[in-house]
Amino acid sequence: MSKLKSESNNIIELKDDFFISRIINGMWQVSGNHGVINRDEAIESMLIHSKSGLFTWDLADHYGPAEDFVKVFRETLKEKEENDLLKKIKFFTKWVPRPQKITDEKVRAAVDVSCKRMGMDSLDMLQFHWWDYRNKEYLKAMEYLDDLREEGLIKHLGLTNFDSKHVQEFVDMGIKIVSNQVQYSIIDTRPESLMQDICEKNNIKLLVYGTLGGGLLTKRFLNKSKPNASQLNTASLYKYYNMVQRWGDWNLFTELLNVLQMIAEKHKVSIANVAVRYTLENPIVAAAIVGVRLGISEHIQENMNIFDFSLDKEDLDMINRVNSRSNNLIRIIGDCGDEYR
Ligand SMILES: NC(=O)c1ccc[n+]([C@@H]2O[C@H](COP(=O)([O-])OP(=O)(O)OC[C@H]3O[C@@H](n4cnc5c(N)ncnc54)[C@H](OP(=O)(O)O)[C@@H]3O)[C@@H](O)[C@H]2O)c1
Repeated sequence: MSKLKSESNNIIELKDDFFISRIINGMWQVSGNHGVINRDEAIESMLIHSKSGLFTWDLADHYGPAEDFVKVFRETLKEKEENDLLKKIKFFTKWVPRPQKITDEKVRAAVDVSCKRMGMDSLDMLQFHWWDYRNKEYLKAMEYLDDLREEGLIKHLGLTNFDSKHVQEFVDMGIKIVSNQVQYSIIDTRPESLMQDICEKNNIKLLVYGTLGGGLLTKRFLNKSKPNASQLNTASLYKYYNMVQRWGDWNLFTELLNVLQMIAEKHKVSIANVAVRYTLENPIVAAAIVGVRLGISEHIQENMNIFDFSLDKEDLDMINRVNSRSNNLIRIIGDCGDEYR
């Protein structure tokens, strides 16, 4: 299949006339504990990713210099007169306040800070996170954010790590939510339960992370013994190794990687491709957010292969057979996002 075809399959209309790439570049990896990030090399890598068809970026107010990188990157694009690319690129940031009394001034100030740091007059998308449901101030926060959306300071409003009950609460309030960003992978299929129904009924899309388990769901760990602390050398690997332990054990995980390897060979792709593709097969998933260690490692060409194949029933049955022997994460952790509460 041609490069052109891959690129067109890589684009989705998230909302009316608002197009994003179905692989979003995740910028948590610039915030520390993922290797030393050099700013200039990171900006160069952002240009390469965006030009290769991966033109949507996920970040947050608390991801170290991520919002500041956006400003430098946008200035670089202007200097290079890459105006069409600049118009196409989307930046999705997050507001993650500590639980507190919320006022409209506080909400506006937080959005203003992100706009200034990113060098933008308005935000393409603001994704809201709240740590503690017992503190009901999150309801006010979303009302004020929705006002800013109507005003045009925020183009689209999203959530991150909200469970199905609270997504429903916002829907009932009449707040226009485009997406919820949650963990979803072959080993964490919780979104296929309660969240699936709510998203389908209300046309809310998921932007999903953890699809590669920080790199665990790749050939690198196929038939390897249980990794030790020095092999879990990024915060992401460490986070998802804990998830593997809650899902099952290393033997079952090795079995899963072998099944993924068989599926990968059948489609002439990689284990990483199969892992990300699994989440994109679900119609409520608009995009998978794949973490990028800008200037350190790069998987652009390989990840574009995700758009050249589909998983069939036989593949999904093989994956489900292994998963049927794993622990039930809804029972152990709870619904989407409950791992943060
Ligand atoms: N809302 C939230 O609470 C939340 C939480 C976590 C993450 N996120 C978002 O999701 C993003 C994704 O991060 P994640 O931590 O979930 O990590 P991930 O996407 O599961 O894993 C990223 C790592 O996978 C490896 N990788 C990527 N493509 C590969 C390929 N084709 N072959 C082999 N390895 C490949 C790379 O490792 P190497 O660099 O070592 O090669 C990369 O650093 C974050 O940056 C962030 O934007 C959001």
